[in-house]
Amino acid sequence: MSLDKINSIIKRRGFIWKSCEQYGGLSGFYDYGHLGTLMKRKFEDIWRNFFLGLNPNFFEISPSLIMKEEVFKASGHLDHFTDPIVKCSKCDFVERADQILEKQLKEKFEGMSKEEMTELIKKHEIKCPKCGGALTDVSELELMFPVDVGAYDKIRAYLRPETAQGSYLNFSQEFNALRKKLPLGLAVIGKAFRNEISPRQGVYRTREFTQAELQIFFDPEKVEEHSNWDDIKDYKLRLLPASSRDKLTELSCEETIEKFDLPKFYVYYMAQIQRFYLEVLNYPREKIRFFELNQEERAFYNKLHWDFEVRLEALEGFGELCGIHYRTDYDLKAHEKLSGEKQEVFFEEKKFIPHVVELAFGIDRNVYALLELFYTEREDKSILALPLKVAPFDCAVLPLVKKEGLPEKANEIYQELRKQFTCFYDNTGSIGRRYARQDEIGTPLCITIDFDTLKDNTVTVRNRDSTEQVRVKINELKVKIEEFLNEA
Ligand code: GAP
Repeated sequence: MSLDKINSIIKRRGFIWKSCEQYGGLSGFYDYGHLGTLMKRKFEDIWRNFFLGLNPNFFEISPSLIMKEEVFKASGHLDHFTDPIVKCSKCDFVERADQILEKQLKEKFEGMSKEEMTELIKKHEIKCPKCGGALTDVSELELMFPVDVGAYDKIRAYLRPETAQGSYLNFSQEFNALRKKLPLGLAVIGKAFRNEISPRQGVYRTREFTQAELQIFFDPEKVEEHSNWDDIKDYKLRLLPASSRDKLTELSCEETIEKFDLPKFYVYYMAQIQRFYLEVLNYPREKIRFFELNQEERAFYNKLHWDFEVRLEALEGFGELCGIHYRTDYDLKAHEKLSGEKQEVFFEEKKFIPHVVELAFGIDRNVYALLELFYTEREDKSILALPLKVAPFDCAVLPLVKKEGLPEKANEIYQELRKQFTCFYDNTGSIGRRYARQDEIGTPLCITIDFDTLKDNTVTVRNRDSTEQVRVKINELKVKIEEFLNEA
């Protein structure tokens, strides 16, 4: 399915659309409608449950979105967080230089210097993809949005480009407040902002997006171990290592650490990420992989970096949904150096600066991927066969007809169900049309109130995927729905 088709479906149904549309839209910014908001919130909830559930010493925090310039001076973002760009000297079209090269030469060029890219553009006589005009030399564009805070003595600050920095700034405070134990996990779910040059892939690449990032602080001397290693040591990972990009390998975690010389502490979380996608979200196994970035491609703060990717038709290839980064003590050390505030901990009879493994997810990309992957058609009708836990509505309540006491009974049931479930009430149109409307937005169960309901206090429950219908007693409805949703 094309990107245009999926974007038009998710707009029409009430999931996501361009922000400020009345004024022509603002590229790279999107609004979530009622369905998109419900789905995004559910994704965030299952992410929270799964990843914070991995260790009782993992917690969520909420740092501010605007941070002082010094934070990004220390973190390296001010100096290194740029994208290489080229401009057409004829039509002013601007594009990322590595993406222009990638499209023309069918290779990846991320991480190459601007001089090398300029050279390649000249060597291959690459022209503007819009008008064929000559391209300028490659220059660098700062990706952070600056903000001037205050009325007179303005203070330079930035909208955060990643949620991670908030966890580093709060690490010391939290370590002390949380009984001084390692590993300590600090998660942030919140907005990040980047002035992306060409945000042209719907919510896959935007200028304002939500991240869910977990920073795991640990003792670097224990990087070769993990207390739950035995749980995942035989678990098979799907890997595309930097050394052989043309061949996907499936290796157990034990084999992975040996073959690629990766630390156990890191591989344990790779396994958990893959489990999250396969077991919680039911992703098709053949569409997922871990992609390793080599030294040139990795962000400046990473010692190890594998992205978790999924094949997306609309992107005509694989898309990155999250990254697992070994950031070492890069950030804590940098903040200690600039702020003068010690980041050392005293733990198990020694002093050291903890290392960090970061799990970095983009929520919008994940919502988008779910909408694309689980879209299907049945007898020409579209179905969003979403994993049950991320479907916007758990159930819909539908009175068969709008008369003879059925709406009143249906409303009574609806008011009860909505205390516990996300629930939609619909009494307009034929029952077939109403089932189809719920299938289109992914509602797993439809509950129909008919004339028998008034006689025997039972309702019909219809399953989105099998279309099977069963009679259920009203007083057992909540338990049955709960069981059904939890089985997935
Ligand atoms: N703290 C590390 C970090 O920010 P990243 O790879 O730049 O790493 C993490 O971003 C995740 O955030 C990505 O895997 C992606 O899912 C999401 N992301 C990054 N840039 C994005 C953008 N412009 N639009 C939407 N999501 C984005």
